[in-house]
Amino acid sequence: MSREEYVGKWNQRHQEASDQGEVAQVLSRNRQLLPGAGKALDLACGRGASAMFMAQTGLETHAWDFSPVAIERLDKKARENGLKIKTQVRDVVKYPPDPNSFDLILVSYFLERRIIPQLIRSLRPGGMLFYQTFVREVYLDRGPSTDDWRLERNELLRLFQDLQVHYYREDGQVLSEPTELSDLAMIVASKGT
Ligand SMILES: C[S@@+](CC[C@H](N)C(=O)[O-])C[C@H]1O[C@@H](n2cnc3c(N)ncnc32)[C@H](O)[C@@H]1O
Repeated sequence: MSREEYVGKWNQRHQEASDQGEVAQVLSRNRQLLPGAGKALDLACGRGASAMFMAQTGLETHAWDFSPVAIERLDKKARENGLKIKTQVRDVVKYPPDPNSFDLILVSYFLERRIIPQLIRSLRPGGMLFYQTFVREVYLDRGPSTDDWRLERNELLRLFQDLQVHYYREDGQVLSEPTELSDLAMIVASKGT
């Protein structure tokens, strides 16, 4: 699939979606770990439910996605709700965040291992990383079809081993019945000061 086709596929998904998506569980479950102030980034934000959540807490919120449709929908919803969110249509693999530029980075359902070192560098001292995405041990029929875009066991812990971990949870096939956390791994970790 060419890049244009890939962006087009996402544009179509964002066009057809009925709402802004869901606030990432890793954020809503760990509200107490959010910094009280500072600059936050929702990376590959989609239609931006999590960016809106962060903006509502008073953080200076930035939201980037390469889909112009997603960003347009987020801009409209933010305006309707009186929220200031600095959006950008941006390919985050080609143009990851600058070093030392954010106090919080959220990544939800987006896995590009190539840019993880840049994400760590782009956290300011004391900055917090919130990350969640799908694992390979599938319980429910959802998430990416290829294993490359799913996490191995404990992989978030390995990817962010240089950060201090405050919260980690991984729900592969350990649950007796499916929940909203099935098939997910999530981490909250911070960079030393
Ligand atoms: C599964 S969605 C997740 C959206 C949102 N983070 C959420 O949790 O609902 C993946 C998002 O990544 C975006 N995306 C994919 N590749 C990208 C890239 N290279 N740069 C920026 N955004 C990208 C897509 O447009 C899509 O919005």
